[in-house]
Amino acid sequence: MNDPKKNLLYIGDVYKEYGQKLVLDNVDLSIREGELCTLVGPSGCGKSTLFRLILGEEQPTSGDILVDGRAAGFPDASRGIVYQKYSLYPNLTALDNVLLGKRLALWPWASYARREALRREGMAILERMHVQDHANNYPSALSGGQQQRVAIARALIMRPRILLMDEPFGALDPGAREYLQVFLLDLWQEMKMTILFVTHDLEEAVFLGTRVFILSQHYSDGRGATARRGSKIVFDQALPRALTTDVKRTAEFGELVSHIREDGFNPNHRRHVTEFNLRHQDSFQTLRDEELAK
Ligand SMILES: Nc1ncnc2c1ncn2[C@@H]1O[C@H](COP(=O)(O)OP(=O)(O)OP(=O)(O)O)[C@@H](O)[C@H]1O
Ligand SMILES: [Mg+2]
Repeated sequence: MNDPKKNLLYIGDVYKEYGQKLVLDNVDLSIREGELCTLVGPSGCGKSTLFRLILGEEQPTSGDILVDGRAAGFPDASRGIVYQKYSLYPNLTALDNVLLGKRLALWPWASYARREALRREGMAILERMHVQDHANNYPSALSGGQQQRVAIARALIMRPRILLMDEPFGALDPGAREYLQVFLLDLWQEMKMTILFVTHDLEEAVFLGTRVFILSQHYSDGRGATARRGSKIVFDQALPRALTTDVKRTAEFGELVSHIREDGFNPNHRRHVTEFNLRHQDSFQTLRDEELAK
């Protein structure tokens, strides 16, 4: 087995509490460069919290988060994020939204001197996202799907090593959603990105991912019924590569989705920490003795 700390993202023995509430409880995961990992889990289990820790917007209560072998520290261009909605600045055009991060990283005079080169770079990425015709429009004039493509462009122009996506297609209607799923798969293959993608839609998770994680508080361990518990990675498996959206209608696809629903979302179905479905080759656990007891 390779050393999980050498992968692009390493999260080891991570705890996060807010006051008395323990949200993340000894979370372990490690992701290789180039994977498209999907993350699902019950509402409130801590998916967005985990993203804030990876971005460096918040620090874990304890544990290690390494990006390319270095402590995640504070936010920088190595990590980008796309949220569900309302993330574009309404008073900036699509092009200015895309260029904002680049401009903020430059001194004003340098940004001015490079304005033509920046504009060309912004237009090129909007073209790749098929929204170049809206470059000079404000977000309110764009459909939800177009706004999300601008939000993806804004993240990608900074060339992040890891792209985090927190329910990016959650507010779209089914047609626009499926269009963007296929669009994202093409983009991922072309740009060889590393993506961690949160969704509430289990079909979306199984369709898009090369690997799927479940973060959940529904499990059992040796700490006794009254112990304070948070969420752990309870499921981690490689997924077959989907070639077309037809795969969503096959029996195997449906079975995997029901397994995931049962393992992560049924509060009455609690696997013991030693019996989680952690079949992925990069999966590991740093359990304590008291957790291991049956
Ligand atoms: N700043 C904070 N202070 C206190 N509690 C917080 C804070 N941020 C998050 N929490 C709590 O942490 C838990 C996890 O929240 P989080 O938003 O990470 O969940 P989530 O898995 O992203 O949920 P959803 O699927 O609904 O988006 C929730 O119980 C939430 O109330
Ligand atoms: Mg969330």
